[in-house]
Amino acid sequence: MKHHIATGTGSNAKKITEHFKHNQNINVSLIVSNKADAPVLDMARANGIPVLVINRQDFYQTEDILKIFNKYSIDFVVLAGFLWLVPTYLVRAFEGRMVNVHPALLPKYGGKGMYGMRVHEAVKKAGETETGITIHFVNEHYDEGDVVFQASCPVRPEDTPENIAQNIHKLEHRHFPEVIERLLSN
Ligand code: GRF
Repeated sequence: MKHHIATGTGSNAKKITEHFKHNQNINVSLIVSNKADAPVLDMARANGIPVLVINRQDFYQTEDILKIFNKYSIDFVVLAGFLWLVPTYLVRAFEGRMVNVHPALLPKYGGKGMYGMRVHEAVKKAGETETGITIHFVNEHYDEGDVVFQASCPVRPEDTPENIAQNIHKLEHRHFPEVIERLLSN
């Protein structure tokens, strides 16, 4: 049986959880967050999914999370709004089995510090006529792993960064669960 986890703060984790709720082969087995008060943890509890809150020290100085993943038979990791760089031991353990979603068409508007509204503000400022989402495997560098999937949407002159963010979220919600399912079904 395949399992996967989502580590994030919100709406993508929710969509993914809903998408796989009645799937016989793929379960969201654990939700991980680095914030004890993240709303995603309430969503997890409401769906009966175990949660794990991590701290920086343990995450970077120990490999304890691997033992916990093992306990839950995790074999696929989904990052959805997780902003910490993934340490080498974790990248190696889940090579080709850990994906992230980035709210732009990488390699544009990626890298350290390029997250959330900052991405959409930069897209707007540059006068881009399109933007989109990138789902990619995770390696030791921010936003640099192999690209699995991209989808784009237009940026109209009247669009604000907030409008762009909404359109991007729609794209993520439409595609991310399905792309994960496809990867896990191969
Ligand atoms: C998404 O836009 C994703 O691209 C980025 O973080 C955001 C998370 O949004 N990596 P949400 O918490 O799932 O709503």
